[in-house]
Amino acid sequence: MTDSTKHLLLVEDEAPLRVAIAEQLADRGYQVEQVDTGEAALAKLADFAFDIIITDLRLPGVDGSAVVEGAVERYPDIIAIVVTGYGTVKDAVEAIKRGAWDFVSKPFQIDELLHVLDSAIEQRRLKSENAYLRAQLEKRDRFEGVVGRGQAMSRLFQLLETVAPTGSTILITGETGTGKEVVARAIHQGSPRRLHRFVALNCSAIPETLLEAELFGHVRGAFTGAVGNRQGRLEQAHKGTLFLDEVGTMSAALQMKLLRVLQEREFERVGDSNHTIKVDVRVIAATNSDLGRLVAEGTFREDLFYRLNVIPVQLPPLRERKEDIPLLVQHFLDKLASGDRSAGERSAGERSASERSAGERSASLSGERSVRKSVSQDAMRRLMAYHWPGNVRQLENAVERAVAFSAGRAQIDAGDLPNEIQQAQEAALASAVTLPEGGLDLDDFIGGIERDLVQRALERTGGNKGQAAKLLNLKRTTLVEKLKRIERA
Ligand SMILES: Nc1ncnc2c1ncn2[C@@H]1O[C@H](COP(=O)(O)OP(=O)(O)OP(=O)(O)O)[C@@H](O)[C@H]1O
Ligand SMILES: [Mg+2]
Repeated sequence: MTDSTKHLLLVEDEAPLRVAIAEQLADRGYQVEQVDTGEAALAKLADFAFDIIITDLRLPGVDGSAVVEGAVERYPDIIAIVVTGYGTVKDAVEAIKRGAWDFVSKPFQIDELLHVLDSAIEQRRLKSENAYLRAQLEKRDRFEGVVGRGQAMSRLFQLLETVAPTGSTILITGETGTGKEVVARAIHQGSPRRLHRFVALNCSAIPETLLEAELFGHVRGAFTGAVGNRQGRLEQAHKGTLFLDEVGTMSAALQMKLLRVLQEREFERVGDSNHTIKVDVRVIAATNSDLGRLVAEGTFREDLFYRLNVIPVQLPPLRERKEDIPLLVQHFLDKLASGDRSAGERSAGERSASERSAGERSASLSGERSVRKSVSQDAMRRLMAYHWPGNVRQLENAVERAVAFSAGRAQIDAGDLPNEIQQAQEAALASAVTLPEGGLDLDDFIGGIERDLVQRALERTGGNKGQAAKLLNLKRTTLVEKLKRIERA
């Protein structure tokens, strides 16, 4: 209902009354259609999405309640108002149960009806505004396929939103599996360059001798095996993005050549030094080694480091942002339920629509509804307790494995997780209950754990006290009391 003109369907079998109401409503700017039976109303509703329906309750044939039910079923946001005759309040209540917003009793003044309409429209507006704002807030838990909700990731999303649209060179650092490549793709998707190619080159996967030709291309006969002319990745990425993975492993000679590309945006193919090629490429580099240290050790060029490190993006290890685990687990379960293995590589907007259709496709193929599994509390506790040396990639693999192991069940249990993760809980608990040499203050210690868990629960639920209480198996009021106590302390 964004258009200001409201389309209204009026259902009333008494012609004079119907015409009178219709005229008054049309005078107030409503676009009114009139019908005199329930059947006709349902037929109209099938053809057109009205914003509002006003129907008499007592109609010959299909009655007003059934019309309301049909309307609301088809358009959950429609405002349905029933008009009742003398002594039919009970029926009006029934209509409201079936989805009517409100009722007016005959005889009524037109102002009474208008008042009911205005207030319904206003409340609907607020409701959709809230839904919109909520959607905006929820959008914050992902950026073009990169998922996360804790502070570290929200800050990352803010940074990505700012820098993605620019053409700046970006250096992404982070341990293995922290999402360096997903982030690089997300930056490309969030930039005007998304209309062109994202070309990835893993510098450590290709022998040094071939890497240069791979990057710059070569001409026929440039080296043994160079049978024809070939475009390099730089040319392929023209107007798009070149992702240089494991950039720390490049040789000194190649580092120098890359420096020139970054400075001049030009290069020559291997074996053809007379012909300079100019490209418009955005470079995103990634590394899981400490380039600063490589510079200090003299194995990485300092000038190249600064050229690459224009905008540093650091991805924290998963063990430092465990609050993201439940959301990531859901994300991977969604991905698996929909049978879409590449969900993480596309933009958020594309994903929701296509994941659904992919899910439906796979469901109809297997003749089975692909429902997203849930995760038992015990399993989730262990996932949260584990230290994830392989980071998000390891989590994704663990979820995939657990889904396979829990075949036939709707819930993933701790027993479906790999051994080392199953044992994480005991280890974490064991370390938490160690008694230090010099003893401890029990109340203080327990209070600290309580404060920590309450904060985590609130963080995980985005501050929702009701949900946080549920996570901790507390009554909401108990949680509120604890919070007050914590704040006082
Ligand atoms: N924030 C995230 N949201 C959604 N999926 C993620 C996220 N981070 C990582 N992944 C998933 O985890 C896997 C590993 O991510 P990616 O390949 O980007 O890691 P990486 O940092 O490049 O690792 P490596 O250093 O080993 O190359 C991918 O399948 C990716 O989809
Ligand atoms: Mg990678």
